[in-house]
Amino acid sequence: MQNSPRPAAWERLLDGCFDSKHPRRTLWNLFADQRGRVFGAVALYVVKQTPASLMPLAVGMIVDVLTNGGAFSEILWIALGYFLLLLQNPFVHTTFVRLMSGALRHMQFNLRSALVERLQQLSITFYEEKQTSALQTKLLRDVDAIDGLCRHLMHTGLNGLLVMVYVTIIALVKQPLLALYFLVTVPAGVVLLKLFDRRFKEQYQAMRVETEQMNARVGEMLQMLPVTRAHGLESIETRSVRGVFERIRERGLQVDTLTEFFSSSSWFTFMCFQLACLVFSAWLVIHHRISIGDAVMYHAYFGMLIGAVQQFLSVFPAMAQGADAVRSLGEVLEAEQLERNDGKPSAPVPLRGEIVFENVSFSYPRGREVALQEISLQIKPGETIAFVGESGAGKSTLVNLAIGFRQPTAGKVLLDGHDLRELDLRTYRRQIGVVPQTTLLFNGTLRENVTYGLEKVTEDALWKVLADANLAEFVRALPKGLDTPLGESGAQLSGGQRQRVAIARALVRNPRLVILDEATSALDTESERLVQSALVRLTQGRTTLIVAHRFSTIRHAHRVVVLHGGKIVEQGTHAELMARERHFFRLAQLQSVTTEIPAAG
Ligand SMILES: Nc1ncnc2c1ncn2[C@@H]1O[C@H](COP(=O)(O)OP(=O)(O)OP(=O)(O)O)[C@@H](O)[C@H]1O
Ligand SMILES: [Mg+2]
Repeated sequence: MQNSPRPAAWERLLDGCFDSKHPRRTLWNLFADQRGRVFGAVALYVVKQTPASLMPLAVGMIVDVLTNGGAFSEILWIALGYFLLLLQNPFVHTTFVRLMSGALRHMQFNLRSALVERLQQLSITFYEEKQTSALQTKLLRDVDAIDGLCRHLMHTGLNGLLVMVYVTIIALVKQPLLALYFLVTVPAGVVLLKLFDRRFKEQYQAMRVETEQMNARVGEMLQMLPVTRAHGLESIETRSVRGVFERIRERGLQVDTLTEFFSSSSWFTFMCFQLACLVFSAWLVIHHRISIGDAVMYHAYFGMLIGAVQQFLSVFPAMAQGADAVRSLGEVLEAEQLERNDGKPSAPVPLRGEIVFENVSFSYPRGREVALQEISLQIKPGETIAFVGESGAGKSTLVNLAIGFRQPTAGKVLLDGHDLRELDLRTYRRQIGVVPQTTLLFNGTLRENVTYGLEKVTEDALWKVLADANLAEFVRALPKGLDTPLGESGAQLSGGQRQRVAIARALVRNPRLVILDEATSALDTESERLVQSALVRLTQGRTTLIVAHRFSTIRHAHRVVVLHGGKIVEQGTHAELMARERHFFRLAQLQSVTTEIPAAG
């Protein structure tokens, strides 16, 4: 799609076509590439609904034939005419549905594609503020809400509008006085809407926010399940989740009551009108202004009109809901925290792997203190550098700056001499291997998890990687080998095995640069040895930044950098730092006291 001169429809949604401040215009823009289908569907709808709209006319004509003592053949002719009108309906209806559904499905596809595209472009900061389950709700529920609204508009709304137009035309032709009467119903509807409009908006927004929170809370509960059960906190957790359900129950009740109060108010108003219409047309018959057939027809039409106005009005609560869904999606589609990569030059291929921090300072947008202060550090290609320091010293922050997840508040990070800010970070990250502190595995096979995102990995290369990651033996022992499904989040693997899968995932990319936030989970000696020797092979010949917690890792580093309170307080080889007996020495002593228990992460 990227090569085509015209951007795809969903790309245009990311280009300003989506404006949550103008939900109606935005809804219209969602169908930008589907206008032909939409107009076609509307036209077919008008045709297919004609027989239903003309029914009272036929009834009125037949009543007139009867009251005037006409022949039965006249009735047959009317019936035949009506039958011919009916004939088109099945075919036209089917085509209508195909066009409408096509347009709607396309809109859903575009909207979801735009959302996913944007979610992949947003910076890490965005995700810190939003819960994953809430985002998932947007992707699924809000898109469905917009789809539901459009369906409602196309069926109920259009039908209401159409009948209103038909009835007004027929009344105008047959009895202009009645047409006037019809016209008072519309302003009455508008007044009703005005009375309810703001409340609808508020209620639907509140309902949506509650639903997002409920989904987020349920997601969290499921994630926390092992911790909850391990601490025997089941009842506290259920009570807390029930609290969220209670809020939804209350809110839902309010929304339902409001919607129904609105519809019964409009029903009451229009039934009063209908009663008045009945009296008025009877008066006209008594004074010989119209025939009985006309009176029957008017009454039928007025009934239809009332149904139509009500149908049309029912679109407005749905509109309020749809507009809210548009606002909700706007939180993603219009989010400002974008990582801007387009148009920037690619990182050099292959990387040499030199990273330089030049007077880098960094504070978190909402952090109280400076997380990093004037860090200056030169990391040579091929060098393995270990960062150590107490918890909160700024190690992860520093590593995130090197990945480009965050931008320095002052100073710069240079990659092979280029400022990271000036590079297309995607081209840089494709050449690095990142092993995060917690290994993220997905519900696929072992092979899929290792080769994640890579298309062609030969069997030989894969086995070599597995051997280097100390996984080969383990995989061979599995009945299904590489094609063993890992279960959700790799539930079937031990901590050490997961780390080695993460190492294999980094190795298979053959990166020039490895960034590793060492896992702090306690491993037994054998497991630690396996992970350690895999790490050594991973870092060989590549520039490596390790946040190190284990002594065994630090020993292999060419240089150790000690961070304290966001500053570099010491650096040198392991032996040099031990001999100096200052910060590092103290940290090391602390670790040897706690022996096998690694530092907090
Ligand atoms: N997203 C954030 N928003 C605000 N402040 C943050 C954020 N992440 C970290 N901090 C703060 O920045 C400082 C450095 O945190 P960082 O995560 O880099 O520490 P660390 O050295 O990796 O610690 P650990 O060994 O515990 O992982 C800490 O004071 C922390 O409270
Ligand atoms: Mg950390």
